[in-house]
Amino acid sequence: MSVYPIIMTQTSFTHRDNLKYPYEERGLQFGDGIYEVIRIYNGEYYLLEEHVDRLFRSTAAVKIKLDVTKEEMTHLLLQLLERNKMDKDGKVYLQITRGSAPRDHVFPEGIPANVYAYVQDLPRNTEKMDNGVSTITQRDVRWENCYIKSLNLLPNVLAKQEAKENGCYEAILHKNGMVTECSSSNVYMVKDGKIYTHPATNNILHGCVRMRVEKFANDLGIPFIEERFSVEDIATADEMLLSSSTSEVMPIISVDNQQIADGQPGLITKKLQQAYVKDANIVEADKVSNEVI
Ligand code: PDD
Repeated sequence: MSVYPIIMTQTSFTHRDNLKYPYEERGLQFGDGIYEVIRIYNGEYYLLEEHVDRLFRSTAAVKIKLDVTKEEMTHLLLQLLERNKMDKDGKVYLQITRGSAPRDHVFPEGIPANVYAYVQDLPRNTEKMDNGVSTITQRDVRWENCYIKSLNLLPNVLAKQEAKENGCYEAILHKNGMVTECSSSNVYMVKDGKIYTHPATNNILHGCVRMRVEKFANDLGIPFIEERFSVEDIATADEMLLSSSTSEVMPIISVDNQQIADGQPGLITKKLQQAYVKDANIVEADKVSNEVI
């Protein structure tokens, strides 16, 4: 059944051919799609293979069929940077939905997925990475398949907004008092020289940076323990930190207005930050100027 030609948009009416956004699009109507956010440093992707692997895990999990292989997707993403002459620090947002079709919960047949990706500049947030950020805790009210990077982000959006309204950077989510992750990042507690984080089950997104944090910890000889910790445990933490493609490794200096330890970014967090900078081949501005001098 096709849609009548006149569409209400905001407070006016227009012909459906003039509408700027696709009104019958499954990402828009059902959140029926998945996405990735990939970091770029100096015009080069960081952890591209890991992101493409996760992209294909997500599409497989929600049964979206793609016409391209992993290799072809990788090639397309590389071309995107080349065609844009991207040579700065930035990010790519890539979204794949089940396509455009008349609204029906059941999958449409013979309809191609809608795929798009765009590039944006994104300077590193060094001020926050040096000084640390404040957070609040929030109940994790999301579904049971958070390992899929799905477009259904309303609980995440609401949690992040609550954090912002409380003057905070992130919301630490918990299920029955046990910490899962943050609204758009993974979270870790450091206690007695060990790093604790929620196991990579279906209740959290398996962050690409989280995988790296595990590797950095192993390289540095710091125990990386995939064990749940509680909101109460945070009160006795030596350090707290979060990670994501956009936040990198970020120290958390307070949770629910309670300072973590001495309220300064911790030593283990700093070591992980250094390992990240090295791993991502980041040339830090002050180091460059030192070299020049
Ligand atoms: N967020 N957990 C959640 C819920 C996330 O949304 C993200 C990433 C992460 C960290 O994943 P990674 O290390 O692969 O970036 C963990 C992205 C950056 C976003 O939605 O903008």
